[in-house]
Amino acid sequence: MNFRQAIIDGLAPLTQLPVQAIGDLLEIPPQPQMGDYAFPCFTLAKTLRKAPPAIASDLAGRLGQSLSFIDRIETSGGYLNFFIDRATLVSQTVRDTICAGDQLGLSDLGKGQTILVEFSSPNIAKPFHVGHAFTTILGNALARFYQHLGYTTIRMNHLGDYGTQFGKLIVAFKLWGNEAALNEHPIQELLRIYVKFHDEAKEQPELETKARDQFRRLEAGEPEQIALWQRFRDLSLLEFERVYQRLGVSFDNYNGESFYSDQIPAVVDWLKQKELLEDSEGAQVVRLDEKNLPPCIILKSDGTTIYASRDIAAVLYRDRTYHFSKNIYVVGTPQALHFRQVFAVLEKAGFEKASECIHVGFGLVKFADRKLSTRSGDVILLEDLLSESVEKTLEIIQKNAALRHPDMTDLDMRQIAEKIGIGAVVFTFLKNSRERDIVFSWEEMLDFEGDSAPYVLYTYARARSILRKAEQEGAAYQNCPDESLRLLASDDEFALAKLLESFGPTLEKAVSVHEPFMLVRLITSLARVFNKYYHHESILKTQDPNLRAARLALVDAVSIGIRTGLDLLGISAVERM
Ligand code: ARG
Repeated sequence: MNFRQAIIDGLAPLTQLPVQAIGDLLEIPPQPQMGDYAFPCFTLAKTLRKAPPAIASDLAGRLGQSLSFIDRIETSGGYLNFFIDRATLVSQTVRDTICAGDQLGLSDLGKGQTILVEFSSPNIAKPFHVGHAFTTILGNALARFYQHLGYTTIRMNHLGDYGTQFGKLIVAFKLWGNEAALNEHPIQELLRIYVKFHDEAKEQPELETKARDQFRRLEAGEPEQIALWQRFRDLSLLEFERVYQRLGVSFDNYNGESFYSDQIPAVVDWLKQKELLEDSEGAQVVRLDEKNLPPCIILKSDGTTIYASRDIAAVLYRDRTYHFSKNIYVVGTPQALHFRQVFAVLEKAGFEKASECIHVGFGLVKFADRKLSTRSGDVILLEDLLSESVEKTLEIIQKNAALRHPDMTDLDMRQIAEKIGIGAVVFTFLKNSRERDIVFSWEEMLDFEGDSAPYVLYTYARARSILRKAEQEGAAYQNCPDESLRLLASDDEFALAKLLESFGPTLEKAVSVHEPFMLVRLITSLARVFNKYYHHESILKTQDPNLRAARLALVDAVSIGIRTGLDLLGISAVERM
């Protein structure tokens, strides 16, 4: 039962407000003594010409007994505070959660709407560093959230596979490239010759001219340049795929920047027709003075295309192809200005969905302990980060297994460590508001007691082990009747049910502001309260068989909440650890 929705539906005829507006106003009070839901009457004061406290008591009187699940409605200031009958809340929520299973929080909120989520978008021939890890992990979570809420979700990977740097790579490869090395460690080799190019170009500036010429040939479609570029792209993509697989991430569309190169002339014509293009020192630009933005360069003085023009072409292509409702870019905050310019050009040109293009930025990635092994200079590769996390987790698992699971095989431990180690990295990227910088520390990341993936995963495994034991003892909790579930009356039991009840609304809220941390907080709280409960109550030893079944059902519901939350974040749960 959706209590929130039922309250909204109850208020609608009495307030004459649209359902959506009531939903926006309805709050979850900061303190439990203020009720489970609160409705502020201040906005009604104008239309009803009454003081908010008077409106509140009038509404309370008229709502009266119409909501059967309400224990009482109190008024305080201009607020209506709803107290849901505890036994009803607990029993219904536990039952609904078990019924929903992995579909907990599923809704059709996004029915009929297509959301494009662009994320990851690494650069070909460059290492996949931790900044790209952030967009990959954040974007994957957001795409999963949208999907769960019923949106048609398209995952876009706007590969950085074009631009003048490819001219440099072609020149460098012809001069210093090593075939065998390219096949074995493509990105390492491409990085090597790229760095060499920059070193050499200091002495021989003519290399830069050559590089520009090679890029021009590439853009003109000359076979030799195309063939080399294609190889660099294919080999790099193979390496990226390895990381994606490990993270369980996939894409529907890999159209990189190169894909849009031949669509630029149409963009240029369009902007010309709108009389927006101006000449500026030989380059073609759109001025954005009235928006207090620097001009957006569309064509460089040598006639080649650039990053921004390819993004403009991409928006138009995306709209033609997918008729998107929203087009979301999960890209680091340092590119905020770029996106403001691109969206501003589109708006100026009269593109109607310019306001549906949204940049979702995020902070920087830092390391508390710089003991992380780096293979290529100063950048930290995601693959190394994942491997190190898995190795460190394995050590902990081996120690624990020796104590608790003597039957665990080496392979079991490796598989578990892979999931927990990767989960720990994913969790760290998602646990705080995305604009905040991330400071990695192994201690925090792998703290089995802290706000970490291992802590939440461990709690899940503990809940599952209780259920396994119960099954071995033949306890039936699956179809626990309502009368039994109503016996769950302790504060912890109520708190757990409340958290489960907020799963759907939390997911919706998290999507509306593109903040997965809200769901991380929810499952971390579930784990915290569950552990407290587990220490207070010896669930399996409960005397009353009806209460015992109800408690086990609650354990089942909690495990569903944690597992579904983790899955939406892109973390796989483990049954034992
Ligand atoms: N490849 C770029 C980079 O690594 C990110 C691309 C962002 N997406 C876009 N549509 N411009 O910095």
